[in-house]
This record gives sequence, C-alpha cells and structure tokens, in this order.
Amino acid sequence: YIIDFMNIAIVGTGYVGLVSGTCFAEMGVHVTCVDVNEEKINALREGNVPIYEPGLDEMVLRNHGEGRLDFTTDLISVLDEVDIVFCAVGTPPDEDGAADLQYVLAVARQFGQNIHKYTVLVTKSTVPVGTAKRVKATVEEELKKRGVEIPFDVASNPEFLKEGAAIKDFMSPDRVVVGVESEKAKEMMSKLYRPFLLNNFRVIFTDIPSAEMIKYAANSMLATRISFMNDIANLCELVGADVNMVRKGIGSDSRIGAKFLYPGCGYGGSCFPKDVKALIKTAEKKGYPMKVLKAVEEVNENQKSVLFNKLGTYYKDDLKGKIIALWGLSFKPETDDMREATSLVIIKLLLNAGCTVKVYDPVAMTECKRRIGDIVTYATDMYDAVLDADALLMLTEWKQFRLPSWRVIVKSMKHPLVIDGRNIYDAAEMKEMGVEYRCIGKLR
Ligand code: NAD
Ligand code: UGA
Repeated sequence: YIIDFMNIAIVGTGYVGLVSGTCFAEMGVHVTCVDVNEEKINALREGNVPIYEPGLDEMVLRNHGEGRLDFTTDLISVLDEVDIVFCAVGTPPDEDGAADLQYVLAVARQFGQNIHKYTVLVTKSTVPVGTAKRVKATVEEELKKRGVEIPFDVASNPEFLKEGAAIKDFMSPDRVVVGVESEKAKEMMSKLYRPFLLNNFRVIFTDIPSAEMIKYAANSMLATRISFMNDIANLCELVGADVNMVRKGIGSDSRIGAKFLYPGCGYGGSCFPKDVKALIKTAEKKGYPMKVLKAVEEVNENQKSVLFNKLGTYYKDDLKGKIIALWGLSFKPETDDMREATSLVIIKLLLNAGCTVKVYDPVAMTECKRRIGDIVTYATDMYDAVLDADALLMLTEWKQFRLPSWRVIVKSMKHPLVIDGRNIYDAAEMKEMGVEYRCIGKLR
C-alpha cells in the first residue's frame, strides 16, 4: 500500500476542525473542511473566517486561494477521494455532565453509509474512553445494512491546541498522540504528521483507549494545577505570603515546572470545565469517585466569585448603585470565546447586587452582546469603561491592559479601586499612582 499525495476531509469546521484543516493544508495536504452549518461554510468560501484566532484569516485565505483548502456541507461528495476522515465535531456536556456523543456517532453513521474504499476514520474530538469502539461498531452496523464489506480503520488523535495560540500549537506541537489498531493506519498517520515533526520526532503511538484517556488526563492535570494554585493563593492571603513568590519558588523545581501555575479568577473555556466534568462522569459510571477532580471543580466555581467577594469586602457589602467597570470578557486573551468565562459569573453577581456594569473587551464585545444583550453597558474603549466607576475589575489579561495610563484612570474613576484577577499589575507602582489595589494571593 503506497501512500502518495494525501487528501483528507475534516468533519466539523469549528475551532479545532478549521485550525487543523488549515495547518494540514499549509503542509501541502489537500483538505476539505466539512460542516453541517451552511452559513459557516458559505462565509468561509467567501473568505470570512467565523472565529477570532490570531493568524488564521491569512492562512485560510491563502490555502483556499491556492486550492489546497476547500469547504463543503456535503461529506458524501468527497468521501471517494479522501484517504482519511477526521471527526472534529463538538462533544458538549449532556445534562448529567457526560460528553454528548451524538455528533461523533452521526459522523460515523454517515461514514459507514457512504464509503466505497479503504478509509481511516480518525476521532480528533475529545471523547471518553471506549468511544472509538462505539464509532467502529456504528460503521460496521451501517456497512452490514448495506450488505458490503469495505475495509476501514478507526484511530484516535486527540488535539492539544490552546485557543489564542492555536496555529503555533498545531504547527509545532510538544507531541502528537495517535491511538491506532492497525499498521496501515499507523503508517498513514505517521506520514500525515511527518512535516510537523521534521526536527524532533514526537508522535506517540498508543492503543486507542490510552489515546482517549491521555486527552482527559492532560486537561484534568492542567486544571488541577490551576485549582491547586488558586487554593494556595487564597491561603497566602490569610497567612500573609505572596503567591507570586511562591509560584516562582515552586515552579523552578524541574519536577513541578513553571507553566500553568498562575492563580487567577478561575479557569473557563470550552474544554477544562467540560472535560473535568466528563472524566468525573466516566469514573462514576465505573463506580470510582474522582475525589481530586471533584475538588478541582469546586475550587474553580468558588474562584470565579473571588473578585466580587473582594469588592464586597471593600464596600462592606453596600454595592447598590455602584458603577463597576470590567476589563476582559473572553475566558482568556486572544480569543472572543466566552464559554464558561468568569466574566459571565461576575456580571450576574454585580447585577444582582444592584450595580451598573460597564464592560470592555478588545474582541469579545459582539459575542457578549449575543449572549447577554444590553443588560450591561458596552464601553467604546478601555478608558471609557472606567469613567465615573467605583471600581475596575480586570478579568482577562489582554496585552493592551498591561500598561495603561493610571493617571488618566485615577482621574476618570469616581473611586480608584482596581481589583486585578490575573495579577498583572505591580502593587508598589499602583500605590504610588494613588490606586487602591487588590489582587489574587497577596495582601496589600
Ligand atoms: P466547535 O463547536 O467550535 O465546532 C464544532 C463544529 O462541528 C460546528 O461547526 C458544528 O456545526 C459542526 N458539526 C456538528 N455536527 C456535525 C456533523 N454531523 N457534520 C459536520 N459538522 C458537524 O467545537 P471545537 O471547539 O472545535 O471542539 C471540537 C472538539 O475538539 C471538541 O470535542 C473539543 O472538546 C475538542 N477540542 C477543542 C479545543 C479548543 O480549543 N476549542 C482544543 C482541543 C480539543
Ligand atoms: C486548554 C489546554 O491548554 C489545551 O492544551 C487543550 O487542547 C484545550 O484546553 C482543549 O482541550 O480544548 P484553552 O482552554 O484554549 O486550552 O486555554 P488555556 O490557555 O489552557 O486556558 C484555560 C483557562 O485556564 C483560562 O481561563 C486561563 O485563564 C486559565 N489559566 C491558565 C489559569 O487560570 N492559570 C494558568 O496558569 C493557566
């Protein structure tokens, strides 16, 4: 079996599907991105990228223009030409917190109903252990219904990219994990990823259940580090230590490592919250209680209210009529994604307490309006947001928030109270500028 030029389809043109598809195309692979959402596909065909991800627009346009990246709503029309079909559809939590696999299984059904030759079906979506087995059974069932015997393989290739740094993460990954059960599929996946790994070969081949588990274990470990640091930060405040010093002190131990030790106002996003919940659920189904992860979740829920609690303490819980400015709405910088964002929790708490809320975010304002409408005031820029405010809450560490003019801000605010949810400001400097400064894990 000789694999020459590669032609692949990616089903699900969301964050992961579009970024992976575009990056594979960048490496010379012919990619067709497929989605059921016609509006999205039409927009992409016209060169409009529906998500904000630095560098993505230019790459999509160029690869589309050069004929390596196509968009369609019709998977069936491309199945005969492709060697590999990636499934990158959503796996949102269902009502009890488990991953909802209906979209993944719908793709498997369509695959089984329409392939005519050997093709590999690779799951890139984050799915619980055992899903590949269900995917395989679904395809087999459909082939049986057709009364045909067509060879195929399933594989698992979880994705580890971060929003906001998605292209960099995809183009030079720390590692690529591929779960396979046949030599042929292994060879094809090896070839597909070879261009990304020229300098340092980092494809880790595993069995399929292990690949599925690696994704959840990785996200859960990262979420655990964050909740652990948030707990330590809260304790630092009580005992008079500075969590920034503690972070540096422990992060320089190579066994611990310096990354993902930043305390803050809680983790959000489309993945940590849902994947932690889903792993707890998987374990529960097997009768095993994931005690650590349950605590990770609980700490995170509480951490999302920490800035509001600090505001309450400062104003002795008399918040009615106060004007509060929020900087940062997205769950992290460099994205307009507001899934499980701390801003949504804080806005609710502030409005319930009778505050007027004025918000600013460099890119997530439209997304915020779409989600919550006009229950808050949308500022024209970061300085407009703080006009007459009784406090400024900084929730997302966008670069443009890092070095503002405190002179202008102190003059504009009714009261210069700044509560920093990401520890990006210098306490001594803030004091000098006449700001009442509060942050995470350090007393004034
Ligand atoms: P998304 O919601 O942005 O995109 C999913 C897309 O799939 C949507 O455009 C939807 O219309 C499409 N879709 C649904 N059913 C379909 C079908 N039957 N055929 C064709 N298209 C269909 O989701 P996402 O953020 O890209 O996440 C996808 C998966 O990747 C999830 O399992 C997620 O956990 C995982 N993941 C996400 C990230 C991230 O940073 N967003 C990172 C790693 C892994
Ligand atoms: C995360 C993982 O980092 C990716 O490897 C993974 O592929 C992805 O989930 C996924 O499965 O979808 P992402 O959610 O895009 O990526 O963003 P992160 O940079 O991990 O940040 C997540 C949240 O944690 C943010 O709210 C961020 O502010 C918070 N965080 C991060 C902290 O509070 N402290 C830290 O030290 C790091």
